[in-house]
Amino acid sequence: MFNIPRGTRDFTTEEMHKRRYIEEVMRSTFQSFGYHEIKTPTFETLELFTAKSGQEIIEELYFFKDKGDRDLALRPELTAPVIRFYVDKLQMAPKPLKLFYFGNCYRYDRPQKGRYREFSQAGCELIGTDTAEAYAELIALAYRILQNSGVKTLILNIGNLNVLSSIFNQLKLSKKQQKYLIPLIDKSLFEDVLDALKDFGINSKEAENLVKILQTEDLQIIKDFLKDDSAKQELVALEKILNLLEKAFGIKNYKIQMRIVRGLDYYKGLVFEIEAPILGAEKQLCGGGAYDLISLFGGKDSSSAGFAIGFDRTIVALESENYKFPKTKMDAYIIPLNEELIETAINIVQEIRSEGFTADMDLLRRGIGKSLKYASSINAKNAVIIGPDEIKQDSVTIRDMDTGEQKLIKINNIINFLK
Ligand code: HAM
Repeated sequence: MFNIPRGTRDFTTEEMHKRRYIEEVMRSTFQSFGYHEIKTPTFETLELFTAKSGQEIIEELYFFKDKGDRDLALRPELTAPVIRFYVDKLQMAPKPLKLFYFGNCYRYDRPQKGRYREFSQAGCELIGTDTAEAYAELIALAYRILQNSGVKTLILNIGNLNVLSSIFNQLKLSKKQQKYLIPLIDKSLFEDVLDALKDFGINSKEAENLVKILQTEDLQIIKDFLKDDSAKQELVALEKILNLLEKAFGIKNYKIQMRIVRGLDYYKGLVFEIEAPILGAEKQLCGGGAYDLISLFGGKDSSSAGFAIGFDRTIVALESENYKFPKTKMDAYIIPLNEELIETAINIVQEIRSEGFTADMDLLRRGIGKSLKYASSINAKNAVIIGPDEIKQDSVTIRDMDTGEQKLIKINNIINFLK
């Protein structure tokens, strides 16, 4: 007996139907927003992921040496690979570049419901623009993909890392102190943030103000707190994005949240996350924002932003909300009643398939009873029964599998009947 590796999953045919269906909804939403699909390899050089994040990220990676002694890693995400691809081959492409992808990712995470070691992301990268309309459209796309997929309850949180770091600087927090605070803020552990600030020698009034800023949804309160002009301008830019998101894209139920810190190290400026509260602990369905990687990878500096949706979590959210996935149907199941009729059955099944219908036939030479039972187990709409009596009249019997109603149909009329 072999066991499946920890944190990985097998998918049954029913699960694959669901996954493919949702993947198609997501793909067509990306395409409707003018995005084009790309694909990058499952493994990359280890350095691609340590370049920005440092050696610390190694803890989370699956990495190995190949036979040529090269250090490689299974990708934990696709932003770094896409930017590597961009710097290598796509820099001359007309801007803005709108790229989307589906891909398996690997993280040495502690597995639990909604958290796997092998999982799938649906994501995109927008390169060459940083206008308010570009960012508003990006957030709207993430939101619409999840809505179109059928997730009912979504929470959209929007923040800005430049504003956050300006708040930190205002309190004269060192980089080391900021690094200590970020995971606490990420987990919304505000009591611990207050304790840490006290330990750092920040007076309690200022510490409470900071925690208030991290939790408020009111831009004005944040504006009043900020002293730095560039941070104030950053808020004005954020306001423009929110205004377009609300008035032009019709997405009103977002929350301003300066506590959004994002786990990855490449973000700057705008950041956003979408949650499905029904998922509990692993509720984050989507994360994204503006980031800097192009110049680090040797490319000519250009604005870049994007997001990734956890595909597996989207499916779990839909299942938890009792989403009715469409059932796949087989248009026709063909049953020859004896061996002499097998060739005729193959001809008929081929003809039905060539007309774009889905069709299958009995390959086990079972009797009519068992064949009908099988036909209903595969959700066949019609059973096409070919018997010696029918054939004498150039006909077949077609049984409607829902109603049980049977009709004698001429062979050359089967396609019309199915239509
Ligand atoms: P991320 O937040 O690390 O962002 O991942 C995006 C989404 O992938 C998460 O919101 C979550 O739904 C899903 N996810 C992450 N880890 C796991 C796991 N172990 N099991 C199941 N699902 C998981 C990124 O990866 C960035 N590259 C997004 C981005 C694109 N930013 C800019 N462009």
